Amino acid sequence: MGVPETEEPTRLWGARFAGGPAEALARLSVSVQFDWRLAPYDLLASRAHARVLANAGLLDADELGKMLAALDDLESACAAGEFRPTVEDEDVHTALERGLLERLGSLGGKLRAGRSRNDQVATDLRLYLRDHARGVAVAVVELADALTEQAARNIDTPAPGMTHVQHAQPVSFGHWLLAHVQPLLRDLERLRDWDARTAISPLGSGALAGSSLPLDPAAVAKELGFSAPAPNSMDAVSDRDFVAEFLFTTALLGVHLSRLGEEVVLWTSTEFGWVELDDAFATGSSIMPQKKNADIAELARGKSGRLVGGLVAVLTMLKGLPLTYDRDMQEDKEPAFDAVDTLELLLPALAGMISTMTVRVDRLAAAAPVGFSLATEVADWLVRKGVPFRDAHEVTGKLVALCSARECELEDLTDDDLKTVSEHLDPSVREVLSVSSALAARTTPGSTGPGPVREQLATVQHKLDNWRQWAVEQVVPRH
Ligand code: ARG
Repeated sequence: MGVPETEEPTRLWGARFAGGPAEALARLSVSVQFDWRLAPYDLLASRAHARVLANAGLLDADELGKMLAALDDLESACAAGEFRPTVEDEDVHTALERGLLERLGSLGGKLRAGRSRNDQVATDLRLYLRDHARGVAVAVVELADALTEQAARNIDTPAPGMTHVQHAQPVSFGHWLLAHVQPLLRDLERLRDWDARTAISPLGSGALAGSSLPLDPAAVAKELGFSAPAPNSMDAVSDRDFVAEFLFTTALLGVHLSRLGEEVVLWTSTEFGWVELDDAFATGSSIMPQKKNADIAELARGKSGRLVGGLVAVLTMLKGLPLTYDRDMQEDKEPAFDAVDTLELLLPALAGMISTMTVRVDRLAAAAPVGFSLATEVADWLVRKGVPFRDAHEVTGKLVALCSARECELEDLTDDDLKTVSEHLDPSVREVLSVSSALAARTTPGSTGPGPVREQLATVQHKLDNWRQWAVEQVVPRH
């Protein structure tokens, strides 16, 4: 932040006060150090408001022309870093009014008519988040693409599917990777649903009661890319559902990324050795020369904490707040900005890590049948012979116990062993004792057999094509 150039600080209030604010108050209440990033959105809303004032006869054509030119000039100056907030500017709105006054003199003071920082800040934050949610969506799609491409290469790679981190049943590793794509598709749906609810314009609500001036909230809403003006001015300035909901969506996305991150940490361990990270997406140790660490995956796990924390902070801030605007609500911005920043950093790193990792097909295939993961196949074989599943489960459990005692695999049991354990068993049960037959047998939709996984892959790719288009739509008009 630069040093103030003006002798008297610009303040949007103060006439009824005997002196300036105490230093401690000023330091506590200032928000410009974080809300300055709303400047382009505030300027966008200011242009729309200027046009509405002109239509209402409150600015003549000449004044409107000057006002719009000054707003354009201010925007360029902001973008070039020539105009910056000073330590005296309380918030982004104050700084920009100062910039307008510097350019227009007293004409600059006309823009505030019919408008309050309360409807302004709610508008700016909606515009900022709608714009940046699409950026987050682009990055989610890129991560989903990376996972989907790895999945396509590994449809026929068997892996030991797990529950409780114990070998459970063989699965396709492609299916496993797609199981990380499905939550991301739901996250994208949540962002789209959120966007539709957030596309409501608070501008025109003023401080809380609307305006006595003949404003046109519908025209402003349209110009700013919103679907409609807010139906209730009091709700419009006090509603921060869109922030809480955005933060829930990003928190849940963060939780999904943390689960993917945790799995990559496991997969890259010596004990698993299922995946090898590309050198460019792994880190080393300052003391142990042999180390290759999955720091991106760990940061994905770790950063979910701040995403969840931001949601909790905003919900707690909102709880019990009386209508309408309260200064508590200034605390909505940092968690929202932090969620955007965190995801814009994290998602590209994760996408790069996933798309460049090498899947150790040999290690996965060797691990797939370990831990009697084909036992369910035996039970299902018995069921097909008419044995009630309850009995089939018992019989198979006995086979596993026998193998455990002998330290052998199910296929090592002799014909006699099978007969001894159950009269229903015969040597043909060995047909189901292979990973490939277990996978091939899974043909129902959504299951892990090669057929359904290929169908799933095609659907996912089609959905991602649509999401890719949605994510780059321009929702907030560029001026
Ligand atoms: N910086 C404030 C915020 O972020 C802007 C609105 C201030 N409004 C007010 N009446 N003090 O919430």
